[in-house]
Amino acid sequence: MKVTVVGAGAVGASCAEYIAIKNFASEVTLIDIKEGFAEGKAMDLMQTASLMGFDTKISGATNDYSKTAGSTVAVITSGIPRKPGMTREELIGINAGIVKSVVASLIQHSPNVIIIVVSNPMDTMAYLAHKSSGLPKNRIIGMGGALDSARFKFRLAEALGCPQSDVDGMVIGGHSDTGMVPLIGKAARNSVAVSEFLSEERMQQVVEDTKVGGATLTKLLGTSAWYAPGAAVSSMVHAIICDTKKIFPCSALLEGEYGLNDISLGVPCIIGKNGIETIVEIELSDAEKAKFADSAVGVRAVNELL
Ligand code: LAC
Repeated sequence: MKVTVVGAGAVGASCAEYIAIKNFASEVTLIDIKEGFAEGKAMDLMQTASLMGFDTKISGATNDYSKTAGSTVAVITSGIPRKPGMTREELIGINAGIVKSVVASLIQHSPNVIIIVVSNPMDTMAYLAHKSSGLPKNRIIGMGGALDSARFKFRLAEALGCPQSDVDGMVIGGHSDTGMVPLIGKAARNSVAVSEFLSEERMQQVVEDTKVGGATLTKLLGTSAWYAPGAAVSSMVHAIICDTKKIFPCSALLEGEYGLNDISLGVPCIIGKNGIETIVEIELSDAEKAKFADSAVGVRAVNELL
């Protein structure tokens, strides 16, 4: 099956690389507006195939969406990334126009495509993709929760002094420094609540470090991160292509779920061949509910800017 990745920048290229290395897609098409850039990244990646042991065919094209025809999944990473000190919300002006036109071009050539939105401010860009395309809600998925949850697990493992494979945790809410809701009360180390191991203070530190996970990296790198974002998207693409039915927190269009309407926000979703197959409504504590409601207010304020 074919996957298109729009935007051959660091996130798009990492995403294409991980998809290829995992060897589950027949073809990855990279698209970029910069002349020759996607072609170059694709060729460079293809020259790793014999070394890394994958058969996925990677090709690149400059703004030619006819090359994306027949894609099962498309990932939108295009737009400008954050610079140090910027919030994701400050990118809306430029990125909204880009995302809207990319969505239209993708659907024109792949009418059944499932779209994963990565561009920031991600929840608002996913909402815009819904509004501008009118696609069924299962086919537009915002990538934020998968990345934020991976960063949460990194911080949990660091605090617990254990491998990440021993921890489980999920982040719901908006993909922003103030909107993320790391569900620390539900986080576990091999089924044991993390509160059995960590003080209240240490748990709060994990939550705060998780929420500024992206900003911390932007400060260190001078631009937005790419390895973990690329890995998070590639995991979601894998779940769709291989129909795994794995749960990821994703920005999904809510129509009554969690008591909200007309907003895309991070909630646990079962991901399979139809994209978002089920929005899983989990029991939240009163404190979690309040944080989630605040997060929705924040995302709605950004949506207003559209
Ligand atoms: C980040 C960007 C991808 O959080 O939003 O690194």
